[in-house]
Amino acid sequence: MAVIEIPSGEIHKTYETYLSVMGQLTQLQADRGTVLINLGGGVVCDLGGFAAATYKRGIRYINVPTTLLAMADAATGGKTGIDFLNYKNLIGAFHQPLGTFIYADFLETLPTEHLLSGLGEIIKTCLIANANLFSQLSTDLLNDISRLAFLAERAAEFKHTIVEQDPTEQNVRQIFNFGHTFGHCFESFFLSSGQPITHGHAVAMGMLCETMLSVRYLGLSKNTCDQINNLILKYFSPIAVQSQHFETLWQIMQHDKKNSHQEVHCVLLKAIGAPKYNQIIDKDAVFSAFQYYQSLSKAPL
Ligand SMILES: NC(=O)c1ccc[n+]([C@@H]2O[C@H](COP(=O)([O-])OP(=O)(O)OC[C@H]3O[C@@H](n4cnc5c(N)ncnc54)[C@H](O)[C@@H]3O)[C@@H](O)[C@H]2O)c1
Ligand SMILES: [Zn+2]
Repeated sequence: MAVIEIPSGEIHKTYETYLSVMGQLTQLQADRGTVLINLGGGVVCDLGGFAAATYKRGIRYINVPTTLLAMADAATGGKTGIDFLNYKNLIGAFHQPLGTFIYADFLETLPTEHLLSGLGEIIKTCLIANANLFSQLSTDLLNDISRLAFLAERAAEFKHTIVEQDPTEQNVRQIFNFGHTFGHCFESFFLSSGQPITHGHAVAMGMLCETMLSVRYLGLSKNTCDQINNLILKYFSPIAVQSQHFETLWQIMQHDKKNSHQEVHCVLLKAIGAPKYNQIIDKDAVFSAFQYYQSLSKAPL
């Protein structure tokens, strides 16, 4: 067995790193019988998966995720890729791994910030999956690594069953975007204001807004909305956004390729475990969600 190492971090999820992996596979004379094992976080799974998807028109690969986010989400589902020209995942392919193996012990060394990031995606998956899974989310998970790994495994299993029905995200797989319309917008906004936040944190903040909109658009009960948002707020503090930035946030949302003029598409919840994708939300509603978010973050007006 040979080892290929790549430098750590999203800034290395690039064409250059990808080419270096392809060069090493070539030097090692990897062939169609080779199996690539991606040992690392979401960056390694995405980039390694893309190398496997494209080397000699596709070789097999296995994911061994070492971050909570990759265990719960990125290592399952076969979306592979790299960033290009400042666009995330612009170059990529669908290529399913042979399997994903989750070992809780890796989480022992993972910084809290990254545990929380993974927890954001776990909360998302529990909310779209079913009430039973959601009820297993207690408020002391950060001190319980094996419980976190257990929940990540359940999240990955649920994702796998949906990906089998819709591998290329034509329809039902879109439910995994719950929290992401607002989440991506917060992620880009804070990145461009020099205060980058983790993806899972951004998704958690996005879920606060999209849960509130679920009450308005799909009749999610107010009690359930409070129950969801109280749990999110136990783990994540909403980062303050001032009203003067609402228009900028709206512009960022409009740039998302899924959205057209004066409206955006979201996944909303009719109930826990009953997500509806392709919900059309107008600008008024988006601004009221920002106001609601602002009240939670107690930002200056
Ligand atoms: N393909 C998908 O479906 C999918 C889904 C979600 C996210 N993603 C991608 O995943 C990436 C984010 O993944 P991530 O959050 O795992 O980030 P990451 O891979 O950058 O890992 C975060 C940091 O933790 C370090 N690390 C990894 N394992 C560790 C361990 N056990 N102990 C200590 N440190 C460790 C890494 O070196 C890195 O510095 C993004 O590029 C995102 O686009 C892909
Ligand atoms: Zn995500």
